[in-house]
Amino acid sequence: MKVVAFSTSNSKNSINKKLAAYAAGLIRGADTEVLDLNDYEIPLFSVDREAEIGQAELAKAFLAKIESANFLVVSTAEHNGNFPAAWKNLFDWCSRIEKQVFQNTSMILLSTSPGGRGGATVMELALNSFPRFGTEIKAHLSIPNFDDHFDSEAGELTGAYKDELVQAIEALVS
Ligand SMILES: Cc1cc2nc3c(=O)[nH]c(=O)nc-3n(C[C@H](O)[C@H](O)[C@H](O)COP(=O)(O)O)c2cc1C
Repeated sequence: MKVVAFSTSNSKNSINKKLAAYAAGLIRGADTEVLDLNDYEIPLFSVDREAEIGQAELAKAFLAKIESANFLVVSTAEHNGNFPAAWKNLFDWCSRIEKQVFQNTSMILLSTSPGGRGGATVMELALNSFPRFGTEIKAHLSIPNFDDHFDSEAGELTGAYKDELVQAIEALVS
């Protein structure tokens, strides 16, 4: 099974990318590819720019990665209660090529932040909007206070959140 994992953040040290990579690694026997949003940086979307350049090649490349996946692990960062601009931009370009951006690929949806809400606002947004773009969210989890719950040296969650995520993934694959 091919699993594609990514964060909606383009931060070089994205904690959501770390979380997505960790969660994907829990899926036994999966062939996992972790994407970096920086590899899909496209000029700011506008219908005028689209008229100039047509379909963005990097949006096509991102859609191809999603098409290659049997399952997605997505962890979303929260910027001012919303998706990071980098994700929104890429998503808008992708949606002009393929409205069903997730192409009927199910996902686990995660969010985390250094603060106490763990990206709960953007999680709500994603829970409401992603299924309209061709995905089923099989499980979701927001992890607050990332640094308190993630051992960066070991590259893994600790404690109750680890247990919750492991159980959610085991329930999915069994
Ligand atoms: C522009 C900006 C806005 C932010 N807004 C929020 C927010 O609304 N809620 C939140 O929990 N964290 C917010 N943060 C802090 C992020 O959660 C933090 O930068 C986190 O590391 C982002 O995830 P990432 O490391 O995967 O990029 C914001 C950060 C930035 C740079």
